[in-house]
Amino acid sequence: AHQWRGVIAEYREFLPFEDSDTLLTLGEGGTPLVHAPALGERVGADVHIKVEGMNPTGSFKDRGMVSAMSRAVSDGAQTVVCASTGNTSASAAAYATRAGIGCAVLLPQGKIASGKLAQAIVHGAQLIAVDGNFDDCLEIARKLDAAFPVELVNSVNPYRLHGQKTAAFEVCDALGAAPDIHILPVGNAGNISAYWMGYREYAERGITSSRPAMWGFQAAGAAPFVLGRPIPDPETVATAIRIGAPASWDLAVAARDDSGGLIDAVSDQQILDAQALLASEVGIFVEPASAAGVAGLLQQAERGRVPAGATIAITVTGNGLKDIDTALSQRDVTPTLIDADVNAAAEALGLA
Ligand code: F0G
Repeated sequence: AHQWRGVIAEYREFLPFEDSDTLLTLGEGGTPLVHAPALGERVGADVHIKVEGMNPTGSFKDRGMVSAMSRAVSDGAQTVVCASTGNTSASAAAYATRAGIGCAVLLPQGKIASGKLAQAIVHGAQLIAVDGNFDDCLEIARKLDAAFPVELVNSVNPYRLHGQKTAAFEVCDALGAAPDIHILPVGNAGNISAYWMGYREYAERGITSSRPAMWGFQAAGAAPFVLGRPIPDPETVATAIRIGAPASWDLAVAARDDSGGLIDAVSDQQILDAQALLASEVGIFVEPASAAGVAGLLQQAERGRVPAGATIAITVTGNGLKDIDTALSQRDVTPTLIDADVNAAAEALGLA
């Protein structure tokens, strides 16, 4: 039977590796593109959800990490370092383990979802909590990379974007064409840049005949692209995208402008509402940041900006199980307690 071989083997000819390189995999990529008619009906379009929470460590980061880590280990790196709002550190920790090298992660103190922290811990990363935000962590990580024998695996490492562009290939392969619009959350802005690279490459090679408009959405309290400048104190419930000074600024602006797209902001409440809607109407549990794209789609539909009948792909970037604290804090979590008896169960369920 055929098994998906991971993004490097599946898309080898699109990636800058040599035959002598050590190519890793944990089976990343090959994630489902789920048709979402419930969402499509709401916005008058054909909506497909790219479920990146299905990756080995539960987020899209694995695509870029397998690529950056393969480069690092092929170049003889002994230790990798990254700054992270949680998912990058979880992925780096797992792939460093796979590569047999060390991993140090710099995390904004107190602003990491517990599931992500658990991942970095169980995979044996060295954890450094920084009294500062993600942007502070990334600045330190860059300086460590410049001055010490450690390899930076944040998305400023070009191999990260090469790996992540494979998600755009998969969307085209699944749809048989590029979508009209591709929507995703924007934080450090690596992913929107990587998707745009992937869509451009498929069109340049003649595999697709068009390219989508790229629509990115930030949390309103952490929306430097919408303001047009970096901000010092980003704040949002969606901790994954709590970023004020995105590293891939120019690439993301080019993705937005060259594709005829947009980058807009959604409120924390819109994000939580979209997360709830995805869980209760579509059947997909995502972490808060991952719902920003869906929140943005609904917002654009309300404003009458969604072209009727458009084919829309939305990336939901991370698994809901990474941050159950935020999900449950919005809800009544007390189950109905009964005796171990079928009649009691029937009564509690309103069946009897
Ligand atoms: N969604 C999730 C779940 C993320 O973890 C991130 C980024 C993004 C969206 C935004 O993607 O940065 O490429 O624009 N997380 C990084 C991290 C910053 O450290 O895990 P981006």
